[in-house]
Amino acid sequence: MCGIVGYTGKNDAYPIVVKGLHRLEYRGYDSAGVALMRDGIQLFKCKGKVSDLEDHVGKSDTSGSAGIGHTRWATHGPPNDANAHPHMSMSGELVLIHNGIIENYDSIKKELQQRGYEFQSDTDTEVLVNLIEEIKKQEEMSLSTAVRRALKEVIGAYAIVVMSKNEPGTLVAARKSSPLVVGLGGDGDFYVASDATPIVEYTKNVVYLEDGEIAELHPDHEMKLFNIKEQKVTPFIQELELHLEQLEKGGYDHFMLKEIYEQPRSVRDSMRGRLSINKGIVQLGGIADYEQKLINAQRIIIVACGTSWHAGLVGEYLIEDLARIPVEVEYASEFRYRNPIITEKDVVIAISQSGETADTLAALELAKSKGATILGVCNVVGSSIARTTHGGSYTHAGPEIGVASTKAFTAQVTVLTLMALMLGNRKGTIDRSRFQRLLLGLDAIPDKIERALQTNELVEKISAKFKDARNFLYLGRGYCFPVALEGALKLKEISYIHAEGYPAAEMKHGPIALIDEEMPVVVIATKGPSYEKVVSNIQEVKARKGVIIAIVTEGDTQVKEMADYTIEIPEIEEMFTPLVASIPLQLLSYHIAVMRECNVDQPRNLAKSVTVE
Ligand code: F6R
Repeated sequence: MCGIVGYTGKNDAYPIVVKGLHRLEYRGYDSAGVALMRDGIQLFKCKGKVSDLEDHVGKSDTSGSAGIGHTRWATHGPPNDANAHPHMSMSGELVLIHNGIIENYDSIKKELQQRGYEFQSDTDTEVLVNLIEEIKKQEEMSLSTAVRRALKEVIGAYAIVVMSKNEPGTLVAARKSSPLVVGLGGDGDFYVASDATPIVEYTKNVVYLEDGEIAELHPDHEMKLFNIKEQKVTPFIQELELHLEQLEKGGYDHFMLKEIYEQPRSVRDSMRGRLSINKGIVQLGGIADYEQKLINAQRIIIVACGTSWHAGLVGEYLIEDLARIPVEVEYASEFRYRNPIITEKDVVIAISQSGETADTLAALELAKSKGATILGVCNVVGSSIARTTHGGSYTHAGPEIGVASTKAFTAQVTVLTLMALMLGNRKGTIDRSRFQRLLLGLDAIPDKIERALQTNELVEKISAKFKDARNFLYLGRGYCFPVALEGALKLKEISYIHAEGYPAAEMKHGPIALIDEEMPVVVIATKGPSYEKVVSNIQEVKARKGVIIAIVTEGDTQVKEMADYTIEIPEIEEMFTPLVASIPLQLLSYHIAVMRECNVDQPRNLAKSVTVE
């Protein structure tokens, strides 16, 4: 996590860097800082958000045409002023920002301490900047050579940008396992950032750094790129597809609400060019070459974290149901460390909005090293996971800025649905008429999401009744079980109310003991094969005085009679329920969080892109 940004060129760096930090704040918001090059290095940093940094800077002189900035998600050391980046070397010659973790920082620190270095912070980053300084002191060399040599001694993950007061205007940027992108401005200026969002309004020409690469950026000079072996590399310049409007709130109070409302469009975009009703086909270009491999796979293993893991569960149900290929869904963080059995006959699919989640990336690399075919379902184009996989399908949901994932989840589920349909059709496990019916059903989902969004006012009223609840239970069966898990996660992460998702029938094996008149129980009770069973589960809750909030199919009467509150969604094929039933649950968590005055887009302790283990 952490967001880093840098600029060097003809303009003042400060406004560019601070605006960039606002865009990257989704990556962490424990502290923020900037360093500007102007007759030496000017440093401003403090605990808190980028707006706190702006207050801290106040009316100070912020001129300087090279600068770097950082917004932190704390790993080494608590969020405080001292641990905020940028970090300066002891002599004050160098200043550095870092996203990642230097695993061997302790041993390097001890060596540096023996040589007389003193440290102001608890961070691994301050160790790195002093290591560069120490190497540079030993013989005459450029900043970029010193950075390259220092990085050879470092174990861990990093994206860094360094400046030296002896080379004003030069930025040296390097990455390993943490993302970094360089923007090439038209006027010979350079931008560098953790993702392209701080860059897009200045240039569309970017270079995504590869692992081990180091860039030397100096205005009016060509970008110099080296690999870790100190060989020159030709930069691969790409054109950004990102648009500025996608990064703004567009009249909504929060990015999360905007993103919830974008779902009819984002789900449609996930299907665009992939589903053709007229031709009766589903195609996913990015995995076309691996279709046979998937069909013949001994197993498909889905690896993911958090919300993406919930999408993976839906994927398991879909692929097993429609294509009859065995699927396992694994938490990436468990999979990578538990010595799993992986063979060349397995296909491992990573699901990740950011495409940068460290555990998911490591799980994929493990699977790749064992000979498995690895595929990705990612939202961020050009992300590390997208570049590591053999093939994959982008979700095309557009940038998701709210930390709580909403439209990325429904886009992931849409892509997995397309994948299951495509495989089932090719394998012949779905007959032609069912296939055609399902295509029509899926094509109609964006309109059904639109109707589900019309529950907003009702959901807001219901939210007001439960904003002070201390616990929530979410129940669902079949395809609605992952929806229950996702609903509970959404509530806990943005409103800080404890919530648990359970398969409805599991309730009587433990959680039922929690139920009393204080316990709201959200049940996804839409029409489908397990409807009657869910009705029985609702009765079990009611018998113990639990309060039921039920998501039901339009026209339902049976659950309506039992439930305290009902929210109707349009009738849909059971397997598409996650795409529509999630909508009122996203709204419920959103309104409760707003009523509790929580920071919806930036919940405490979280970050959008989890690039640490
Ligand atoms: C929850 C949420 C997280 C992410 C998880 C994985 O709303 O957003 O649980 O789903 O951190 O992130 P990605 O999908 O980027 O790999």
